[in-house]
Amino acid sequence: MTIAPENRPLLTVHTTVHTHARGKRSPVTCRLKCNDACLHPAPNESANEYFKDVVGAVLSRRAMLGTLAVAAGAVVIGAQAVGAPSAAAATLAEGRLPAHRPGHGHGGRGLAFGAIDPQPVDVDALVVPDGYRWDPIIRWGDPILPGARAFDPHQQSPEQQAKQFGYNCDYLDILPFRPGAKDRGTRGLLVSNLEYTNAEIMFPPTEKYWDLAEDGTRSKNAYARAIERAAHGMAVVEVRRRATGSPWDYQRISAYNRRIHLGTEFVLDGPAAGSDLLRTAADPTGRRVLGTMNNCAGGTTPWGTVLSGEENFNGYFVAAGVNPAADARYGLGTQTSYGWEQDEPRFAQSAGYENESHRFGWVVEVDPYDPHSTPVKHTAMGRFKHEGANVTLSRSGHAVAYMGDDQAFDYVYKFVSRKRVAQGHSRWAREHNKTLLSEGDLYVAKFRGDSPAGQIDGSGALPADGAFDGTGEWIPLVRNNRSRVPGMSVEEVLVWTRLAADKVGATKMDRPEDVEISPVTGRVYVACTNNSGRTPGNATEGATEPNPRDRKVVGGVTTNGNRDGHVVEIVPVGDQTSTRFTWNLLLVAGDPAVEGTYFAGYPRDRVSPISCPDNLAFDAEGNLWISTDGAPSSSAIGRCDGLFKVPVAGRERGHVQQFLSVPSGAETCGPVVDSRDGMVYVNVQHPGEDGTYEAPDSFFPDYVPAGRRPEAGDFRGPRPTVVQVYRTR
Ligand code: FEO
Ligand code: CA
Ligand code: CA
Ligand code: CA
Repeated sequence: MTIAPENRPLLTVHTTVHTHARGKRSPVTCRLKCNDACLHPAPNESANEYFKDVVGAVLSRRAMLGTLAVAAGAVVIGAQAVGAPSAAAATLAEGRLPAHRPGHGHGGRGLAFGAIDPQPVDVDALVVPDGYRWDPIIRWGDPILPGARAFDPHQQSPEQQAKQFGYNCDYLDILPFRPGAKDRGTRGLLVSNLEYTNAEIMFPPTEKYWDLAEDGTRSKNAYARAIERAAHGMAVVEVRRRATGSPWDYQRISAYNRRIHLGTEFVLDGPAAGSDLLRTAADPTGRRVLGTMNNCAGGTTPWGTVLSGEENFNGYFVAAGVNPAADARYGLGTQTSYGWEQDEPRFAQSAGYENESHRFGWVVEVDPYDPHSTPVKHTAMGRFKHEGANVTLSRSGHAVAYMGDDQAFDYVYKFVSRKRVAQGHSRWAREHNKTLLSEGDLYVAKFRGDSPAGQIDGSGALPADGAFDGTGEWIPLVRNNRSRVPGMSVEEVLVWTRLAADKVGATKMDRPEDVEISPVTGRVYVACTNNSGRTPGNATEGATEPNPRDRKVVGGVTTNGNRDGHVVEIVPVGDQTSTRFTWNLLLVAGDPAVEGTYFAGYPRDRVSPISCPDNLAFDAEGNLWISTDGAPSSSAIGRCDGLFKVPVAGRERGHVQQFLSVPSGAETCGPVVDSRDGMVYVNVQHPGEDGTYEAPDSFFPDYVPAGRRPEAGDFRGPRPTVVQVYRTR
């Protein structure tokens, strides 16, 4: 592996070991990104194998209509359920639009590289394989709109930030300049989410940004909080390059450049739009919302729009107290991490704004090709802590979206559009296709294991049949515009989707994040990032076959729970619209030297250690790429996060190989792999998360030496950055 000279670390940073994080994230990431979810009891306390009124005060006025019959019809696991997909596995086939990344369809080798060594947690460098080099494309603070100045930490303002690239990039894609083009060519549109902010790193310790107390403590002032709101959201930026395979430059001025933030107007559409649950004093129509927040992963649709998941929105709102059971289930509390309730009544959810938090937690659709289009929040896809959404097309031409709700013991969902896709990329076809996610059926996943429960001992050891596997079904929540959940209206199912899913017996998963569809086989992959709280005998539950590790005392020793995560492979039985599937675990992640890890049967001594799978991507050859988010503060692996390739077919199935490693404290997000170009893109999110402005923990990506003035101001600290990796030979 090589570290380009200018990219070498200048110092070794300290590693802070924090005790509160029950997963492997830094406490700072926990607080800012997910409102300390790991400190609170899991909000899913439902005994959802049974009909139980967990909705409490919210729905108590509604008659309980009786149990929902959950079809438990046996599904025979075919020979393909475990092992290499065959060409006959469910494929995308006829329903597919000409897309910009067509699969080659035969599971070829793809990008050639030698796996890098895992990097110790204090390596403040982005490490790529021999024969590759990396460059930033765009960083937090880089100007993208007219009137924006070059980044200067001392000259930050809400107005400037709204014209600059925002903070903590997560989902990423580089779209071809023309919708439907078959490759990226030399001109493209970079689209990125901007998930959350870290004031301690962003703002110099001056009165411009902080209220400074005599005892030396400080708190963000209103000006800094307004900058934070402008730093959230999404960005569209035109990029150009001289030739395929060579690095991109972002265009500072382009008609396509766009910033979406907390002040951008969105339309709410779908069955819940306009309902009483979405109206506020500022929007009595319940159809217009200002802004988006905590945009985590996403997905690019076959028709060339970008979906984005509003994830931990709860951390921005004070609970209104009107719907206490729903507040608890979604994790709203009396305090926020951000303090924006001091600035706008909607974040306090004070009188007239009790529904404001209902207007977040949706899948957002943005059309990057139309910079004047109004982005949409799709209520038909349900409201939960959306990691992202990925869309494929069924043979019948329906759009099918798969989604994870990123919380311990929450669920995997599927949406099937009512309308069918229009072929081609004409203006008419695009406008039609942009309505596909506005109406359809919403399902939640039920997984059944096929091994005796006694054989799932919580250690990760395989049961006697040699596989964590079984059958499953998609249980309807809304179908044909009618609620399928007793006691809940369609609007209630869509606004309080978690509560609805609790009622129908959905399977509690270990933090389902990205759910991605293979463009070659149509198989569906779910990244369950971790769940160290899976404990038998408490209010949650212990190991199950689809989540086979838990935390308990065995022979006087406490096991770790599922700290390293796993990847589920779902095989639709028939078309993507089918309600039946088979499943197996592709990976049980962790240190391969430790018993209880599993790499699809590939020899454990030949794989890269991998932990906390988060975002998923496929290359054109059908290889799965996994980026990780397990900030290495107390990890069993004890290595920086990275990007990993794993073939899912043939003799190489399960051969995890690390492609890159991100700098100290960072998470790897939004991977895009273009094996034909020989290029890989990632978002490097929250580098040096535990540091401060004065005492940075990372100097990525500019690594400006002490004593030398960088391009502006005196900022030496880390900047979240979109990175491109390309071949040097
Ligand atoms: Fe923002 Fe689920 O990670
Ligand atoms: Ca089994
Ligand atoms: Ca994520
Ligand atoms: Ca994550």
